[in-house]
Amino acid sequence: MYMLKGKHILVGVSGGIAAYKAAALVRALVKDGAEVRVVMTPMAKHFITSLTMATVSKHPVLAEFYNPENGDWNNHVSLSLWADAYVVAPATANTLAKMAHGIADNLLLTTYLSMRCPVIAAPAMDMDMWNHPATQNNLQTLQKRGVHIIEPPAGELASGLEGKGRMEEPERIAAFIEQLFVKKKSLAGKTVLVTAGPTYEAIDPVRFIGNHSSGKMGYALAESLANCGAQVLLISGPTSLPVPKGVELVRVTAAAEMHAAVTEHFASVDVAIFCAAVADYTPEKKSTHKIKREKEPLLIALKPTVDIAAAVGKQKRKNQLTVGFALETGDELTNAQKKLQTKNLDMIVLNSLNDEGMGFGSDTNKITIIKKDGAIATCPLLPKQKVAEIIIDAVVDAMMC
Ligand code: PMT
Repeated sequence: MYMLKGKHILVGVSGGIAAYKAAALVRALVKDGAEVRVVMTPMAKHFITSLTMATVSKHPVLAEFYNPENGDWNNHVSLSLWADAYVVAPATANTLAKMAHGIADNLLLTTYLSMRCPVIAAPAMDMDMWNHPATQNNLQTLQKRGVHIIEPPAGELASGLEGKGRMEEPERIAAFIEQLFVKKKSLAGKTVLVTAGPTYEAIDPVRFIGNHSSGKMGYALAESLANCGAQVLLISGPTSLPVPKGVELVRVTAAAEMHAAVTEHFASVDVAIFCAAVADYTPEKKSTHKIKREKEPLLIALKPTVDIAAAVGKQKRKNQLTVGFALETGDELTNAQKKLQTKNLDMIVLNSLNDEGMGFGSDTNKITIIKKDGAIATCPLLPKQKVAEIIIDAVVDAMMC
């Protein structure tokens, strides 16, 4: 009941036959307590009138950059600042393509480019257009940028063909938006520590032993956790990524510094997620000067670093939850299960270098979540943002048990 009370939802309607369902969507959102505004493409007005959309939304509809009668400017930037969520429904193949490529030739699109809030798209088109590689590529691009795509279900299409392409029912789209806001608050009041990125173990003032972690997975987790209302402390090895909004960052370089930072904060957090690729070995001695090139092989003695997750796992309280990652190259499941136990984790996220598109540096990952009760859930290859949301859902579920 009134799950969207106080929320500002902007509905973008593009020109397809499913535009007639946009009126029902607006009604459902208004009934749920949301304040709704509508922006339409010029083509959409051929499918449903502005009068209908203005009546159901209780606000004038925006379709042009300015009012030709008095020169009033429809400011897309202020619309994007106003909105808590932007749902483009229906999203035609043309509008999705333009969104993916940053084309801004109507008010719906300029508004999309200025959006700071979650964007949801409910595609609607003929099944051959849906299946076309161009459309599928555009959808992937948008998903990678964090746009939520509500996949069209299969059924009878306006063309008379049967297949995937009809827009999802308005009530389901409204329910999806409600869920976004419920999820947004699900970690309010909780503090979550995330480790991310690589560590650099210095050999001399110039060289180090490092690894290929970009930090993308850990930063995606930090961002999604902040979006869910958590207070997030991100302890990060060297990366060039921007700090996600609302996240407190502690920068470290070597494994020993990461260990010190995690130890300092662990007692005060509710959840810790160890996503960093921490060096298992560090040079026994760091040369104070740049090591000169010689003819003989250079031997560097390495000593083990502290296993951070295992060390704090020993101090874990009953009301704390810890999540580890396992990066494997063989015998994946068994190795990950061992790590789950030796590090006293509540769950471990396995990713394998044998899976194409996973892990290091890429924008995607393919994970399997293993819980301490033995439950195993495998996910397909997905954008890291989506992977982060799946991990957070598992954390929220575990906290409720
Ligand atoms: O950063 P990206 O480019 O996005 O890549 C993401 C990733 C591949 C780095 C990430 O998904 C990942 O798998 N992170 C863990 C990498 C790793 O070090 O795995 P591991 O199996 O060696 O370590 C197991 C767990 O122990 C991890 O949670 C790790 O953070 C932790 N650990 C390891 C060594 C150590 N000294 N201290 C630790 O806490």
